[in-house]
Amino acid sequence: MHSTTESRPKILIVDDNPQNRRLLEALLRAEGYITETAEDGMEAMKTVARHAPDLVLLDINMPGMDGYEVARSLKGASETAEIPIIMITADLDHGARLAALDVGVEDFLTKPFDRIELGLRVRNLLRLKAALQESRRRLSQLLIHRERAKEEERKSIALEVHDALGQNLLALRMDITRLHEWAKEHEPRIHGEAKTMLENVDASLHSVKSIINDLRPFQLELGLHAAVEWQLKAFERITPVKCQLEVRPGVSDNDLDDGQVLLLFRILQESLSNIARHANASRVDVEMVKENGTYVMCIRDNGVGFQRNAIKANSFGILGMVERVGALKGVFAIEPGESVGTVVTVSIPISESIQVASSRMLTP
Ligand SMILES: Nc1ncnc2c1ncn2[C@@H]1O[C@H](COP(=O)(O)OP(=O)(O)OP(=O)(O)O)[C@@H](O)[C@H]1O
Ligand SMILES: [Mg+2]
Repeated sequence: MHSTTESRPKILIVDDNPQNRRLLEALLRAEGYITETAEDGMEAMKTVARHAPDLVLLDINMPGMDGYEVARSLKGASETAEIPIIMITADLDHGARLAALDVGVEDFLTKPFDRIELGLRVRNLLRLKAALQESRRRLSQLLIHRERAKEEERKSIALEVHDALGQNLLALRMDITRLHEWAKEHEPRIHGEAKTMLENVDASLHSVKSIINDLRPFQLELGLHAAVEWQLKAFERITPVKCQLEVRPGVSDNDLDDGQVLLLFRILQESLSNIARHANASRVDVEMVKENGTYVMCIRDNGVGFQRNAIKANSFGILGMVERVGALKGVFAIEPGESVGTVVTVSIPISESIQVASSRMLTP
């Protein structure tokens, strides 16, 4: 039995026969479920669109949209595909069962209804659905945790490389500079070798700088737009792709906090890496827009175009971005462009404190 209204699962009963509806309602309410009824397929679809039930009991033969059609459309839409469906069939109707299985329903119930069987089938399916939701929630937390841990690790490796390796190299450089200067007067051979050593140390210092920068881009200190500009130039140097950034009027670096800036920058980096690996594009356009309290970054390429079924089991880039943007109450979308290529859109709500601060700046 379920105690509070809010936590009680809601079951939608779809049947054109009023007696069946009443009977199923009574049986399910006795088990503690909340019930809703629909007398045909169209009404069922409208009810689901208003508020998704936890489970649907669905009759096959109904005037207008029949049970198969309802099941097919619920299973065909990503928002409703996971609502379990129990199809009501006649006892020996093997053909109807096969057809129902084919459209993706999870279980059957035969007429006349057996109260205990109904209760058990509903309970089992609701348990399965809850388990699926729980594992989805954990996966989402795991992805967010993984991304955070990655950022933390990058930060600490960057500090370590800077402090241990970078500082030692600088000290070594100072020593070799002194040796180089001393040897100029006293040991011409050592003078020449010290010069080569200095060049090597400078090359190592340069590598250290670029490693630190890959781990924790110092350009972000100058703001998101400068960092994006720099990243696009770097991308142009290593690929044949031409890049363009457009920051729409009124959009400012101050619209975002540090976490949001870092997230947008990482999404740009992952998207550019995807473009280099999968798109075969010749052009990338990045646009920053502000609309209705939301900061929007749009990355368009003119490549082969994104196909949803191309996401493989071992592809985690897009999944990670979806979860991280969701954790900041934003929305991430990747879709094929209108005529060509792929469009990645990230919308992040600008926090209220930042909105207030920037409106004060505008009205002195
Ligand atoms: N700009 C793009 N153009 C065309 N296809 C794309 C584009 N971006 C992504 N894709 C497709 O989406 C798939 C999933 O991308 P995702 O970033 O999630 O994983 P991945 O790049 O394959 O691997 P990784 O986990 O290393 O990022 C890619 O394998 C590719 O088929
Ligand atoms: Mg990727």
